Amino acid sequence: MAPLKITVIGTGYLGATHAAAMAELGFDVLGLDVVPEKIEVLASGRVPMYEPGLEELLAAHVAGLPGSTGRLRFTTSYEELGAFDADVHFVCVNTPQKHGEYACDMSYVDSAVESLAPHLTRPALVVGKSTVPVGSAERLAAKLTALAPAGEEIELAWNPEFLREGYAVQDTLHPDRIVIGVRAGADGERAEKLLREVYATPLGEGTPLVVTDFPTAELVKTAANSFLATKISFINAMAEICEAGGGDVVKLAEAIGHDERIGKKFLRAGIGFGGGCLPKDIRAFMARAGELGVDQALTFLREVDSINMRRRGHMVELAREAVGGSFLGKRVAVLGATFKPDSDDVRDSPALNVAGQIHLQGGQVTVYDPKGMDNARRVFPTLSYADSAIAAARGAEVVLHLTEWSEFRDLDPAALGEAVTDRLILDGRNALDPELWRAAGWTYRAMGRPRA
Ligand code: UGA
Repeated sequence: MAPLKITVIGTGYLGATHAAAMAELGFDVLGLDVVPEKIEVLASGRVPMYEPGLEELLAAHVAGLPGSTGRLRFTTSYEELGAFDADVHFVCVNTPQKHGEYACDMSYVDSAVESLAPHLTRPALVVGKSTVPVGSAERLAAKLTALAPAGEEIELAWNPEFLREGYAVQDTLHPDRIVIGVRAGADGERAEKLLREVYATPLGEGTPLVVTDFPTAELVKTAANSFLATKISFINAMAEICEAGGGDVVKLAEAIGHDERIGKKFLRAGIGFGGGCLPKDIRAFMARAGELGVDQALTFLREVDSINMRRRGHMVELAREAVGGSFLGKRVAVLGATFKPDSDDVRDSPALNVAGQIHLQGGQVTVYDPKGMDNARRVFPTLSYADSAIAAARGAEVVLHLTEWSEFRDLDPAALGEAVTDRLILDGRNALDPELWRAAGWTYRAMGRPRA
């Protein structure tokens, strides 16, 4: 039997990884994006962002590369996508926050579906993976039926994605669960059967499959991200209390984490969450709840959001206090620009946001990040950038550790101490070893921990 033919529309973090993973699983894959530069890079086997393991997967499968399986191709043309005549089309475009509103911008999803539909001339399955407000799948299914020449024979399924940046390849090939939202009845059963075929390998490895209706599948995604955001803001609220009451939030997290019902993960206090998902997803969720008339159900997420945003301001306060009450004329070294380690993504990055605020208050900020420099420069061209941690720290009156790259954990405090004017470090991620830094003569301060 010939392998299934699969298209992936939208080749950002999610789509590029999904396309490569589908090729790895043995399918014939065509990836489409409307941004020609992105497609050019991917078609040459390179990755437009930093994502460990993805380049190796592209090298193994992109057509035309020496020694590749040739199972993965890319295009910018919906005509070519139509001619490819696929069995399954995955929609992986992004749904950013609307400007000046909490709601998410569905225009990329709508335009992907509208561009795809006229090319669907025989029965096919369209699978939504983008994070969307509940109710979208039902609306998009009607749109497909109306616009596709194959009409009723086009089936839709909703299959949310839970990959984390930095672990995208691993999370896609070996997910911890697969969620499929389908319609009740024979059409839904056909869709489920086809998706079981697509995911036969992970299902064979024992990955649990949860089959739901459309709204539940859509909600699983926003509920999961809201829970994670709530967990982080919970521990950050505890950090605020610890600071006021003299406790140590790191010990507190360790102690409550031993309770299996609570768990250790996502209890790292610090400058809070950022990135392209958690912040915008909780806001879009609140907006959607408002539209549905149940905004009260999610008012706690407003608190989750404000605890989170307060962390950034608090870090700026700590730094200002550390340099004597004003940033004017002070040199501040910032280690980390990305929203988390092992990613070059600076979208809504707490680290870069703190660096920017200090700069606006007159501080001379020099930033170093192992992978995020190009993106950071684009967002904040007025900050200074250095090409190593030591170079960023040269002459600094305070060093801010804001993204917990392992490179920073491995720094030699004595060597960094030679570069700075004052041995003063503020750990915004509670990730450095206080003893090590204090032993090398540094004043080490962290969020939610006692001052030594
Ligand atoms: C998140 C979810 O974890 C994924 O499951 C989901 O698929 C993805 O969003 C998405 O919706 O696409 P990601 O944005 O890659 O993944 O990042 P996370 O690992 O969740 O981290 C988010 C932020 O929380 C980072 O800024 C991180 O530094 C922060 N964080 C995380 C903390 O401040 N404390 C913690 O204990 C954990």
